[in-house]
Amino acid sequence: MTPVLSAEDIRDANTRYHDVAADHYDSKWGIDFGELGCKQVTTKVRKALGSEPGHYGRSLEIGAGTGYFSLNMLLAGLIEAATCSDISPGMLETLQHNANSLGLEVNTQPADAEHLPFADGSFDLVLGHAVLHHIPDLPRAFAEFERVLAPGGTVLFAGEPSRYGDRVARVPKRVAGAVAPLWRRAIGAAGAPAPEGGAPDAVLERVVDVHAFAPAELSRTARAAGFQDVRVNGEELLANWFGWANRTLESTAEPDDVPWAWRVYAHRGYLLLQELDRRLLESRLPPAIFYNLMLSARKPPA
Ligand SMILES: C[S@@+](CC[C@H](N)C(=O)[O-])C[C@H]1O[C@@H](n2cnc3c(N)ncnc32)[C@H](O)[C@@H]1O
Repeated sequence: MTPVLSAEDIRDANTRYHDVAADHYDSKWGIDFGELGCKQVTTKVRKALGSEPGHYGRSLEIGAGTGYFSLNMLLAGLIEAATCSDISPGMLETLQHNANSLGLEVNTQPADAEHLPFADGSFDLVLGHAVLHHIPDLPRAFAEFERVLAPGGTVLFAGEPSRYGDRVARVPKRVAGAVAPLWRRAIGAAGAPAPEGGAPDAVLERVVDVHAFAPAELSRTARAAGFQDVRVNGEELLANWFGWANRTLESTAEPDDVPWAWRVYAHRGYLLLQELDRRLLESRLPPAIFYNLMLSARKPPA
């Protein structure tokens, strides 16, 4: 039986899990800081806003991780001054290292989304990617986003799992798990070695994700915190099924045995299906069926 965890336990699990993940996070998730990363992030911002991104003065990222969103937005010239916060000091260390290698200046600040150490009205944009689903008390966090935004400021989140999309994504994961031995034989790969002393982060992994959202739930939470012009839309359907199936297969093999050609196929295939989702499906199907949800809204002007 899954034990009932307190909000404090969940925050602690998130800090420890992401501290451990920080070193290999970028390679595990194929995070790019360059032309591809800028294009991906700019596309997500455009989709979330439903219009061309503006230029933001002071931004605050929540759960910034290794910097995927803020660093690429700085590179793309969408923000002027970036503050990156995260509950995991380990992630922020990697983010600072990434920023230094790219010659970018950022302000990093360890912080829990529910208790932001910033004055009222300090930012023009509060943003995040793949973080809301880790936060125990979402209404409290949204109240904080509203408080630290200047009047008229924008809040924008992307990469949040949708409840239905998450359920559907279990199918390709299960199928891939079942055919993994055949796949390994076909590519000549040995099975992944069991980590010494068991997988230290496997237990934490099960407790760090606390929500998958219905679109209406996300908009209600933003509205209840005082935001207006709330938009929620969905992204990635085929790309996610393909991505999860491949990641599940790869996780069962000795990493050095997975041929380069396979990795190229998996990466290119994912990008191609992302484009197909964007062009054909995202504007036609209801947000709830996509794997990821995105939200944008505005704090009312003074
Ligand atoms: C899935 S990672 C996403 C990282 C990054 N935004 C990205 O897209 O690559 C989630 C991040 O949220 C952070 N996080 C989890 N719970 C948090 C909380 N309560 N407050 C602030 N950050 C949190 C984690 O430490 C982690 O860096």
